[in-house]
Amino acid sequence: MTGPVPELAERAATCADRLRTADSVLLASHIDADGLTSAAVAATALERAGVPFETVFEKQLDEAAVRRMAATDHDTVLFTDFGSGQLDVIAGFEGRGAFVPVIADHHQPADATTTYHLNPLLVGIDGASELSGAGAAYVLARALEADGVDNRDLAALAVVGAVGDMQGGVDGLTGANGGIVAEGVAAGVLGEGTDLAMYGRQTRPLPKLLQYASDVRIPGITGDEAGAVEFLAGLDADLRGDGEWKRWVDLTDDDRRTVASALLKRAVASGVPADRVDDLIGTTYTLTAESEGTELRDVSEFSTLLNATARYERADVGLAVCLGDRGAALERARTLLRNHRRNLSNGLELVKSEGVTVEGNVQWFDAGGRIRETIVGIVAGMALGADGIRRDLPIVAFASVEPSAEGEGPEERKVSARGSHALVREGLDLSAVMREAARSVGGDGGGHDVAAGATIPADERAAFVEAVDRLVGEQLG
Ligand code: C5P
Ligand code: C5P
Ligand code: C5P
Ligand code: ZN
Repeated sequence: MTGPVPELAERAATCADRLRTADSVLLASHIDADGLTSAAVAATALERAGVPFETVFEKQLDEAAVRRMAATDHDTVLFTDFGSGQLDVIAGFEGRGAFVPVIADHHQPADATTTYHLNPLLVGIDGASELSGAGAAYVLARALEADGVDNRDLAALAVVGAVGDMQGGVDGLTGANGGIVAEGVAAGVLGEGTDLAMYGRQTRPLPKLLQYASDVRIPGITGDEAGAVEFLAGLDADLRGDGEWKRWVDLTDDDRRTVASALLKRAVASGVPADRVDDLIGTTYTLTAESEGTELRDVSEFSTLLNATARYERADVGLAVCLGDRGAALERARTLLRNHRRNLSNGLELVKSEGVTVEGNVQWFDAGGRIRETIVGIVAGMALGADGIRRDLPIVAFASVEPSAEGEGPEERKVSARGSHALVREGLDLSAVMREAARSVGGDGGGHDVAAGATIPADERAAFVEAVDRLVGEQLG
C-alpha cells in the first residue's frame, strides 16, 4: 500500500512503525482548525491501532513547551501541525530520557534532522497549498491501518483542516489534498460540488449570505443589507418560508440556479471584472454524514467553528466536536462561535477605520490589546483588499501578548503577516521574512510563504518593521 501521497509513503511507514511500538504517546497539536483536525485524525488512528495516548494543545511550540513535553512519562511525542519549524529545538532534546519525537507537519522545517519526520516540503510538495497538518496526519493515519482498519473516513476532517488553513482556492483543493478529497469521496464521507462560493451556505439566511460575502464585491449587495434584500425580493423564486428568509441549503435546485444566475448578471452589469465574476462560483465540499443546515455540513463553516474554540483556550471543545460529540460540546462551540464572529467583525472594523501605515514594501497596523493575538492573523487576512487597504502589499499585524499565567518573561508582541498568491508568485516568502526579521531583534517566527507569524520583544517594533520592509523589498526585487 502506498497511501494517498506516494511521495510520503516511506516516511509515513517509518513513523507509523515507531508509534505502534510506543508504550504511550503524548499527542501535541496546534490551537487552530488545522491543528484540531490534525489531533482528531491522529487520535482516532492511534485509538484504532490500540496505542495508548494523551492529547495536549499549545499556542506556540517554543523551547519551554518542548522541554515540558520531553519531560513527561510518555516515551513518544507525536507533534501534529507544528514541530517542523522547531526541528532544531526538538532535535536538541532527542535521545534525552524517554523522548522520541515523531512529527507530522507542513510548516517550513528549521535547519536540523530527526529520525521520524513526515512533512510534504521534504518531498517537494508545497506545505502552504498542497497538504495541511491534518493532511499530513491523515497520511500517517493511513499508514497506521492494520487488521481490517479503514481510516479513509478521516479524510473528511483532513479536508476541514486544509480549508481551515486556506489551502483551497476557488477551484478547490489540488495536489496531495486532491488525492485526499478523492479518498473521502470514495469512502462516502465527503461530497464535492460546484456551487455559489460564499461563506455560510448552510447557516446564513439569504440576505446575510450575500451581504457578508466579501471575496467578490458586488456594488449595492456586498455590505449592503437593504440592497441584498431588494435584490432577492425582485427574483421569481421561492426564497421565503414561514415569513423568514430561507438559507441557501433550503432552496430547490431551480431556485438556486435562479439566484446564482441573477447574481452573476448583476455583477457583470455593475462592472465587476469577468475573472472576478467567475470566482462567484467554485468548488465546495460537504461532510455528507452531518445534518443539513448545520455548521458541520460545510467544511468552511466547520473550520470557523473550530477556530472559535481553539483560539479561545477551548481546544478541548473543538476536539470533542471533531471526535463526534453532537451534544454539550457542539452547543458550547456554537456559543463560542457567536463570540468569535463578533470579535472578527469588530477587529476588521477597527483596522478599516484606523487604517494601516504604508512603508515601501509592506503595510502594517498595531492592534495593541484590542484584537486577541490568537485571531489577529485571521483579521489581517480578511483586511487585505478590504475598503482602503491595498491588496498588492503584504500586511503585517501586531497585537500585545497577554502575560503568561506564571507572569514571567519580558513583554512580547505577537506578529501575523499575510500576503497574496500573486505576491508569492513574484517571490514573496513571509515565512523566511518573519523568521529572519524576528531573529534580528531577538524573537523568532516562521510559517508559510503566504501566511506567517512571529513573536518579538515588545520594544523592538520599529526595528522589526524596518527589517521586514527591507527583506520583502529584496524578495520582490
Ligand atoms: O499554523 P497554520 O499553518 O495553521 O496557520 C495557517 C494560517 O495561515 C491560517 O490562519 C490561515 O488562515 C493562513 N493562511 C492564509 N492564506 C493562505 C494560507 C494560510 O491566510 N493562503
Ligand atoms: O475563521 P476562519 O479563518 O476559518 O474564516 C475563514 C474565512 O471565512 C474568513 O476569511 C472570512 O472570509 C470567512 N468568515 C466570515 N464570517 C465569519 C467567519 C469567517 O465571512 N463570521
Ligand atoms: O498566528 P498566525 O495565524 O499569524 O500564524 C501564521 C503562521 O505562522 C502559522 O502557520 C503559524 O504556525 C506560524 N507562526 C510561526 N511562529 C510564530 C507565529 C506564527 O511559525 N511565532
Ligand atoms: Zn496548519
